[in-house]
Amino acid sequence: MKHLRLGVNIDHVATIRNARGGGHPDPLRAAQIAEAAGADGITAHLREDRRHIADSDIKLLAENLSIPLNFEMAATDEMLEIALAHKPHASCLVPEKREERTTEGGLDVAGGHNMLKNFVDALRGNDIKVSLFIEPDLKQMEAAKHLGADIVELHVGPYCDVESGDLRQKELERILAAAAAAEEFGLECHAGHGLTFDTVAPIAKIPNVVELNIGHFLIGEAIFTGLDAAIRKMRKLMDEARAEVSA
Ligand code: PXP
Repeated sequence: MKHLRLGVNIDHVATIRNARGGGHPDPLRAAQIAEAAGADGITAHLREDRRHIADSDIKLLAENLSIPLNFEMAATDEMLEIALAHKPHASCLVPEKREERTTEGGLDVAGGHNMLKNFVDALRGNDIKVSLFIEPDLKQMEAAKHLGADIVELHVGPYCDVESGDLRQKELERILAAAAAAEEFGLECHAGHGLTFDTVAPIAKIPNVVELNIGHFLIGEAIFTGLDAAIRKMRKLMDEARAEVSA
C-alpha cells in the first residue's frame, strides 16, 4: 500500500494574520509545526487578490521548508512567473474567481485544454510537478492525461458537504471511479477540499490516492486544540484508515 501523504494547507493562518496586519500568526511557523506533527508537505495558495498568502510568504516557505511545497495557483502569467522564480516541488493549477470564498469547483481541463497546455509545459520544463485540481469526472481525467500533467487532485468538496448518507455514498463512488481511472492513466492521484475528521477515512482508504491536502478544518480545529494536536489527530485517522485496507 502506498504511503498516504498529508499536505497541510496554511492559507488560513495568513487569513487570520491579515485580519489585523502585522506578522502574527506566522504561516512559516505554522508550516514548521505541521512538519513536526507529521505533515509530508505544505500547500499554499497565492490568490490574485492576495487575500491570505502573500508573495513574501511564498518566498519564505520556498527558502525555509524542508518538506515539499505545493504552490496552488491560477493559470495566469503572473503566477507562472512566481512559480518559476521559487521552484516549488509542485504547482497545483486551480480555477479562481475573484468573488468566490474558496475554490468552488474543479478546473475545466477538457474545456480549457489549449490555454492550460502552455502552463503545464512551462512548469514541467522547470522540474516542477504539475497537479490539476479537477472534479472526479472521467472527461476531465482524460483531458489531464492528454495535457501531460503528473498529478490530478480530486475535488472531494461535494462529498464532504452533502448531508445525507446516500448522497455521500454516491459522491464517494464518483471519487472511487475517478481514482481508478487515474491509476489506469498513470496519473498520481491526490484528493482535497473540505476534509474533516469525520470525512477523511473513506478517502484515506482509496489505495491509489497518495496525498490529501487539508487546510480550513485543521486551522479551525487548532483554535480549540492547537495546531500540533489537530494535525496529529488527522494523521492518525489517515493512518488507521489506511491500515484497515492493508490488513
Ligand atoms: N486542495 C485545493 C486544490 C484547494 O483549493 C484547497 C483549498 O484551498 C484545498 C485542497 C484545501 O481545502 P480545505 O481548506 O477545505 O481543507
